[in-house]
Amino acid sequence: MNPRKALITGGTGFIGSALCRRLVTDGWDVHLVVRNESALSQLDGILDRVTLGVHDGSTEGIQAILRKAKPTTVFHLASLFLVEHKPADIEALIKSNIVFGTQLVEAMAANGVYELVNTGTSWQHFESHEYDPVSLYAATKQAFESILTFYVKVTPLRVITLKLFDTYGPNDPRNKLFSLLRRAAKTQVPLAMSPGEQLVDLVYLDDVIEAYLEAARRLSDPEVQQEAYAVSSGCLIRLKELVQIYGRVTGIPVPVEWGSRPYRFREVMIPWHKGLPLPGWLPRTNIEEGIRRMEGICR
Ligand SMILES: NC(=O)c1ccc[n+]([C@@H]2O[C@H](COP(=O)([O-])OP(=O)(O)OC[C@H]3O[C@@H](n4cnc5c(N)ncnc54)[C@H](OP(=O)(O)O)[C@@H]3O)[C@@H](O)[C@H]2O)c1
Repeated sequence: MNPRKALITGGTGFIGSALCRRLVTDGWDVHLVVRNESALSQLDGILDRVTLGVHDGSTEGIQAILRKAKPTTVFHLASLFLVEHKPADIEALIKSNIVFGTQLVEAMAANGVYELVNTGTSWQHFESHEYDPVSLYAATKQAFESILTFYVKVTPLRVITLKLFDTYGPNDPRNKLFSLLRRAAKTQVPLAMSPGEQLVDLVYLDDVIEAYLEAARRLSDPEVQQEAYAVSSGCLIRLKELVQIYGRVTGIPVPVEWGSRPYRFREVMIPWHKGLPLPGWLPRTNIEEGIRRMEGICR
């Protein structure tokens, strides 16, 4: 039997590179859309087992990549994430999160490729509202979902959007919470943080990857048209408690100056909890186990 063929956008990123690794291991024929300037370091060790298509930014360029790859499933993870935007960010944000995705689905439709796993964010649902974007980044995710509805209506495109919460795991190049905790634990220089009363919903990387695979399986059902699911751990932890858990699991307490920073504008105090769970998927890694695996700590 021919291997299944995947085309991945955002494959040089934290989650996308882990998805590439998993698909390669599972025997998929993996094609990636990258840019000239993309750093490929997250793909170390599998570069010779994937096919790269370099996108020049044009619609014709992505058409050519799709025509060549002819995947069965497209996993769209590429995105520019910004907590808060500045006026100078607008073009890049719209280009990465709306223009690029639209070019991709246009090229999919033109090449008879109809199965798409898209990536959204829990930030589309501030205070668990039906739609209330935490940031302009979240608004662009919503706008792209609306564009997808158009393609679902007028072409045979079928889409599952996975709305992710905070994802953590090994090899995370982003300067996010655990990188900061790790650094503070190592240097013992106190970390300036908000009062820390917000709840967080953290999903371990491997569980997120399983969700992508489950969504791809689900797309083989022709009844699926356009669906969206929350990829939640189902377990909310107060940030203050999380820092204690991290210190306990790693054996190194993290020095934090609680309250030395204000909460952010539209800080998420309670993550979205009204999303539909993805059928057939459950998170398997609890926070202690996840931290151990992320930090390479044996029991
Ligand atoms: N990580 C989380 O906790 C989290 C939470 C909620 C939602 N998400 C969503 O999950 C997805 C993956 O997140 P991540 O953390 O793995 O992202 P990441 O590490 O920041 O990687 C972003 C990826 O998007 C690519 N990209 C950005 N703009 C592009 C463009 N215009 N054309 C082509 N590629 C472009 C980047 O490619 P280059 O190498 O060329 O820059 C990179 O591969 C994103 O859609 C994100 O919004 C993530």
